[in-house]
Amino acid sequence: MKKIPVLLLGCGGVGRHLLHHIVSCRSLHANQGIRLRVVGVCDSKCLVVVPDVFSMEFSDNFLLEVCRVKSDSLSLLTLSGSGECQVFTDSELTKKIIDTAALLNKSTGLVLVDCSASSETIGVLNRAVDLGCCVVLANKKPVTSKMEDYDTLVSHPRRIRHESTVGAGLPVIASLNRILSSGDPVHRIIGSLSGTLGYVMSQVEDGKPFSQVVKSAKTLGYTEPDPRDDLSGMDVARKALILARLLGSRLNMDSIKIESLYPGEMGPDVMSVEEFLENGVLLLDKDIQERVHKASLKGNVLRYLEIYSRCYSEQPLVIQGAGAGNDTTAAGVLADILDLQDLFP
Ligand SMILES: NC(=O)c1ccc[n+]([C@@H]2O[C@H](COP(=O)([O-])OP(=O)(O)OC[C@H]3O[C@@H](n4cnc5c(N)ncnc54)[C@H](OP(=O)(O)O)[C@@H]3O)[C@@H](O)[C@H]2O)c1
Repeated sequence: MKKIPVLLLGCGGVGRHLLHHIVSCRSLHANQGIRLRVVGVCDSKCLVVVPDVFSMEFSDNFLLEVCRVKSDSLSLLTLSGSGECQVFTDSELTKKIIDTAALLNKSTGLVLVDCSASSETIGVLNRAVDLGCCVVLANKKPVTSKMEDYDTLVSHPRRIRHESTVGAGLPVIASLNRILSSGDPVHRIIGSLSGTLGYVMSQVEDGKPFSQVVKSAKTLGYTEPDPRDDLSGMDVARKALILARLLGSRLNMDSIKIESLYPGEMGPDVMSVEEFLENGVLLLDKDIQERVHKASLKGNVLRYLEIYSRCYSEQPLVIQGAGAGNDTTAAGVLADILDLQDLFP
């Protein structure tokens, strides 16, 4: 049985779904001769890790308990009495992750999986890549940071997967990589890069108030942790940058022009997510309804992604399907981890 050690950064909507998928796919993976050995899980404040990362792994019961604790918005610290884990916080947390990466890299290898929405993970990811570990990302921020960090992260392309950063579980990056590696030059990519905005706008087109739809999209796990990342256009800009960099452009975020759906006085520097969802977004209903109406008169709504290349010129490659949601995103992350199996002994 091939064992793939996994350390998960971020245990929110996507991270928890990933743990559930890992547990529910046990017999499927066993039939493929693979076992995912989860050795550590961390959130923004706390890391729980098995006492011996060489030989131990968290039991499925423990992983489900992690999910329960996090969905009840409790701290991972509450698991310290279980006897199944060691707990690290503050500066000890990062040190322990890097030590684990250094230790496992020499023997079994390690997949560091980033399901956080933080740019603070970039340092630890780059260090892990330097140490020879594999990296799987749902988090877009590490691959849209400055070029220097990006270059380090992708310096061993076989060891990084980030399919879920564009189109959640849809095979956008894999399709693009296949086209590129066959020498087929991509001329143009057009499409609706935000499943979230697609969902929100189609609901508004059906007559629902914008504020109500944004709140339900957040509850359904379709939005970024702060929905203003979607509504500002920032999330789409990150995806555009990821695709542009895959095509070889050495662009940065400030090269991408975006138009926000909310005014500056409702920005993250001015009001909290809770305040925005409670009060701010209500004030946008009328304006958004008008904008959606005007756009629909032109019939320009897009709900899919098209890639134009030499081979796909008259008939572009069309990728269509649910492009957001914790479940599909986590499924994309799991497929990425499995895709790395040949790198493990
Ligand atoms: N949902 C989707 O449709 C979708 C699609 C594509 C990509 N994604 C990406 O998937 C990622 C996760 O989304 P989500 O909805 O699961 O977010 P979320 O529910 O907000 O969860 C984020 C998790 O990351 C943890 N975290 C924050 N800072 C951290 C750090 N420095 N180190 C380690 N963990 C940290 C948080 O800890 P606390 O629990 O302590 O706050 C939380 O557990 C995001 O980057 C998002 O862009 C999501």
